[in-house]
Amino acid sequence: MKKIISVIMFFALISGLAACAGSTGSDNIETKSSVETEGSHKDEGATEAENASDMSEATSEGSSVEQAADNNQTTKDVLVVYFSATGTTKGVAEKIAAAADADIYEIKAVNEYTEDDLNWHDSDSRTTKEQNDEEARPEIGSAEITPEKYSTIYIGYPIWWGEEPRIMDTFVESYNFDGINMVPFCTSGGSGIGRSGQNLADNAGSGNWLDGKRFSTGVSEEDIREWISELFNY
Ligand SMILES: Cc1cc2nc3c(=O)[nH]c(=O)nc-3n(C[C@H](O)[C@H](O)[C@H](O)COP(=O)(O)O)c2cc1C
Repeated sequence: MKKIISVIMFFALISGLAACAGSTGSDNIETKSSVETEGSHKDEGATEAENASDMSEATSEGSSVEQAADNNQTTKDVLVVYFSATGTTKGVAEKIAAAADADIYEIKAVNEYTEDDLNWHDSDSRTTKEQNDEEARPEIGSAEITPEKYSTIYIGYPIWWGEEPRIMDTFVESYNFDGINMVPFCTSGGSGIGRSGQNLADNAGSGNWLDGKRFSTGVSEEDIREWISELFNY
């Protein structure tokens, strides 16, 4: 009899665990869909069908969707947004996120940049053509964010031809940043941040834009903490 009871208890335990695993998955799906439906995305006129197809594209991006889902659930009020073609800006963005205890979100192009695309020696490469065209707006493939949840957004990118990559303009033109401190930062082969921060502020048309800063790859977290405390006069 004891044996039968233990067998029944074993199966009850297994089915309980299976139910838990199942509910975690569906919670994720709900969070992802709420990321898509709420928020202050400027293109509110998009149809449900368009949103659904955006979602399936975003889902294929995997980690970006997960990051956006995390953003949706978090209680943090600082966000680090970055675009990075070869990983340098990503490294700095991660240090800023650690120093500021912030969420982090990667802007990814629908068509990611290949080595050929990034060839600045080629006057016909994708980046050369995009940077020569102030109106170019490469499409973003990562999931949407909900900027209004944050009081401060750090926004990072590599310098391309002395300016912000055009995909950063796509990003800032997609949202309303009213009431949010916007802090540009960049990495480069040596150029300063130049007029890129001002370009972003002008194109965004909303947000409280602070002076930006250029960082080198090896910047320490301590230097970043100092920069943050100077920014906000802590
Ligand atoms: C198309 C292109 C244009 C660039 N233009 C500049 C530039 O004008 N000045 C500069 O100092 N570095 C320039 N760089 C170098 C990048 O800014 C630098 O390598 C940056 O740290 C790369 O960041 P990432 O790894 O996050 O993409 C350029 C790089 C590329 C691919």
